[in-house]
Amino acid sequence: MGKFENKVVIVTGASSGIGEATAIDFAKEGAKLFITGRNKERLGNAAKKCKAAGAEVDVDTYEKLFHANLRAPVFLSKYALPYLKISKGCIVNVSSVSGIIASPNLVPYSMTKSALDHFTRGFSSECAPFGVRVNSINPGFVETRITDSMYTSDESKKKGFERSKKKQPLGFINSHQISEGIIFLCRSEMTTGTILSIDGGMILSS
Ligand SMILES: NC(=O)c1ccc[n+]([C@@H]2O[C@H](COP(=O)([O-])OP(=O)(O)OC[C@H]3O[C@@H](n4cnc5c(N)ncnc54)[C@H](OP(=O)(O)O)[C@@H]3O)[C@@H](O)[C@H]2O)c1
Repeated sequence: MGKFENKVVIVTGASSGIGEATAIDFAKEGAKLFITGRNKERLGNAAKKCKAAGAEVDVDTYEKLFHANLRAPVFLSKYALPYLKISKGCIVNVSSVSGIIASPNLVPYSMTKSALDHFTRGFSSECAPFGVRVNSINPGFVETRITDSMYTSDESKKKGFERSKKKQPLGFINSHQISEGIIFLCRSEMTTGTILSIDGGMILSS
């Protein structure tokens, strides 16, 4: 029996990439999943993969970034808190190394992530008296739709990927290596307020 058997896990942005991998891996752990995404086709495919992995699935330039990357997790946390107090559940925010190190051309994005990190710290201290933990996972470069969409041509993508590879001495990270960290933070009963980088050494080499 998985550690998350009969636990309800909400994974936002689960129609691709890290969110999708996380949902699938929680499914393997026996969780009951609630997943969200805007693209119905991709979300449906993610749901099928979660089902195959064993889960029950219920599907359903500044401003945009702050909306999606900060407002959404902050208010989801606020509205989930009463339930988390009862279940002694936890929150893992998906941030980025960009919230920790300066990334040229990614300043608005980085600002949302560093604000999210501070939300994680502050909210974790507010929630600790209720036995609710709040942590953050901060990935380095992971090849997903988001990183593909940063480039306008195959040539620029190739060059961009080569640059990113040089910044990560341990090499590229895959989505499941991120979800491994997310699951660790959910399991680790005495860990809260932690900003955990899984970055292939990017912070070290910057
Ligand atoms: N990939 C990396 O190198 C990397 C590095 C550091 C941090 N991260 C973080 O990891 C998280 C997941 O990214 P990913 O790499 O897995 O990217 P991805 O493959 O593009 O997945 C993004 C997910 O978020 C959903 N989404 C995007 N914009 C949204 C919006 N405005 N409102 C609601 N949902 C939205 C997408 O679904 P729909 O389009 O169906 O809505 C999709 O499910 C992000 O927070 C990203 O900042 C990624």
